[in-house]
Amino acid sequence: MKVALLCCAAMAALAGLPAQAEYTWPALPAKAPAPAANPTTPAKVELGRILFYDKRLSENGKVACISCHNLKEGGADHESSSVGLHGERDGRNSLTVWNVGFLTSLFWDGRAASLESQAIAQMLNPLDMGMRDVAYISARLQSVPGYRPLFERAFGSGEVVTAENAARALAAFERTLITGDAPYDRYVAGDHGALSEQQVRGMNEFRNVGCARCHQGAAFDGPALRAGTAFTMKFPTNLRSPFVASYELTRDLGRFEWTGKEPDRHQWRVPSLRNLKYTAPYMHNGSVPTLAHAVRVMGSTELGLIFTDAEVADLVAFLEALSGPLPDVQAPTLP
Ligand code: HEC
Ligand code: HEC
Repeated sequence: MKVALLCCAAMAALAGLPAQAEYTWPALPAKAPAPAANPTTPAKVELGRILFYDKRLSENGKVACISCHNLKEGGADHESSSVGLHGERDGRNSLTVWNVGFLTSLFWDGRAASLESQAIAQMLNPLDMGMRDVAYISARLQSVPGYRPLFERAFGSGEVVTAENAARALAAFERTLITGDAPYDRYVAGDHGALSEQQVRGMNEFRNVGCARCHQGAAFDGPALRAGTAFTMKFPTNLRSPFVASYELTRDLGRFEWTGKEPDRHQWRVPSLRNLKYTAPYMHNGSVPTLAHAVRVMGSTELGLIFTDAEVADLVAFLEALSGPLPDVQAPTLP
């Protein structure tokens, strides 16, 4: 491992993070927490599963959530950037929906704080699903008579066929998308044969070189560090990294694109590292083709390190151990 020079601002950002010595290795819980205002119930989950597959949630009926979050293929879409209802690109790489119930800040730039608000934002995004406004979503749902009994079963009687309830049901469904049983989970639960020697080496390197300072907790994301706030980090911090130009890492301004505030320029949420085996390509712009490349990019841009081929192989082997078997979700019959 060679140490490249990190600039002073990057050193300062890293200095504010907890030391790796305090790091623990939690397994993924079997259940995701639900907010008090939207407890997870079987009726909501069932409705959410149906809505997830329904293309009528997009303005022209061309795309559903499942179009960009293929549950059988890792919960994302394998495109560098997603193709929306008009065939145009969203500009950002699709994130997996597996295990999103454990995240406290959503989207690449952390701009949504709950799955409920995320679902509405995605339906209204003109490049993704293009619905005109919240009332328009409600009207679209009300135009499908078969939805009424399903909404009533989940939310009671009255004016329940609404966009807000659709978002609640989608969120409840997403909270059940959990891939526990990854080799890493079995290892930390005491099954020491679950990881190979190389994977254990990669696990130690992951902590020792500093990856775990940002990617923490059961989902290996960042918000665990500062619960309740949209935890973001500068990416790339080391602007001298050759990857900044080759993967166009500074073109998208990150959180700044949404807030317009200077400190948010190139700030990104620290994403979960679960199920990466299935979700190539990587990074917000999907410019990085393989996990080995992604490990080199992170070392160079976030830690100022140049890894040897053996170190890259160890870290990749460990990251692959964070991918669990994907539970089978059946496509529903639409009303
Ligand atoms: C046209 C493709 C497309 C469609 C359709 C789509 N998504 Fe997404 N989804 C994306 C992309 C791209 C991102 C990342 C966008 C960003 O961060 O700016 C994303 C992000 C998300 C996230 C955040 C995950 C995380 O780790 O923060 C969730 C949850 C999600 N989508 C759920 C849904 C749901 C529910 C629907 C249906 C209502 C849906 N998506 C429809 C492409 C799509
Ligand atoms: C200073 C904080 C920080 C450190 C240290 C860090 N990361 Fe990251 N990581 C991030 C951020 C922020 C992103 C999101 C980048 C983006 O928006 O494209 C990310 C993204 C990733 C991705 C891509 C995920 C995806 O879904 O495309 C991988 C893989 C990854 N990191 C692995 C690592 C490894 C391995 C290490 C240690 C060598 C590491 N990270 C160190 C902050 C960090």
